[in-house]
Amino acid sequence: MASLMFRKMVLLVIIMVIMMGNIANSKLHNVGGTKISWNPKVNLTQWSFHQHFHVADWLYFGYAENYYSVLELNKTSYERCIGAGFIKNITGGAGRDVFELKEAKTYYFISGGGFCWQGLKVAIKVTQHVAPPPKHVSSESKSASDFCQVNQTLVMLILVFIWGILFK
Ligand SMILES: *[C@@H]1O[C@H](CO)[C@@H](O)[C@H](O)[C@H]1NC(C)=O
Ligand SMILES: *[C@@H]1O[C@H](CO)[C@@H](O)[C@H](O)[C@H]1NC(C)=O
Ligand SMILES: *[C@@H]1O[C@H](CO)[C@@H](O)[C@H](O)[C@H]1NC(C)=O
Repeated sequence: MASLMFRKMVLLVIIMVIMMGNIANSKLHNVGGTKISWNPKVNLTQWSFHQHFHVADWLYFGYAENYYSVLELNKTSYERCIGAGFIKNITGGAGRDVFELKEAKTYYFISGGGFCWQGLKVAIKVTQHVAPPPKHVSSESKSASDFCQVNQTLVMLILVFIWGILFK
């Protein structure tokens, strides 16, 4: 009986650790602030400025699918509203698109259909969870990101291992 209690407690702790990890590690941002705010009426520059985006966070683009779309592109194309030669077409077709922010860098998004000229564009500056000291250069912040990922994977492996021992 005691052993069963112990197993239950360990299971509870494992679940809590996983849940806390998820909450701490990623956040879903509704682009523009709501589920329907990927549209030219919203000042996306202002919205983006007041947000904190971290690696492993997600973006949600909600919009009228008949009008707008979502393209990821580079800075030059973003500034000039040039959709051709985009990096990724995120448009799914239903007006409900998600995008994972995988790296610490600035991502650029615009809408196709000429709406970029009306202001339907946004730059998303992504940082590491734990900001590296100012003296770190970008190559070092890259390795910090790798370390973070390796660390998470390791934790998962250990949990799976413990799980295997306890619940054979
Ligand atoms: C959006 O907000 C920014 C910062 O408040 C401001 O500088 C900019 O002019 C605004 N853009 C539009 C299109 O209103
Ligand atoms: C940005 O993308 C455009 C279109 O693919 C390309 O022509 C341009 O060289 C790119 N600019 C940079 C700085 O990578
Ligand atoms: C992006 O993908 C959508 C859905 O597949 C498509 O309708 C649209 O034409 C694509 N946009 C570009 C610029 O290729």
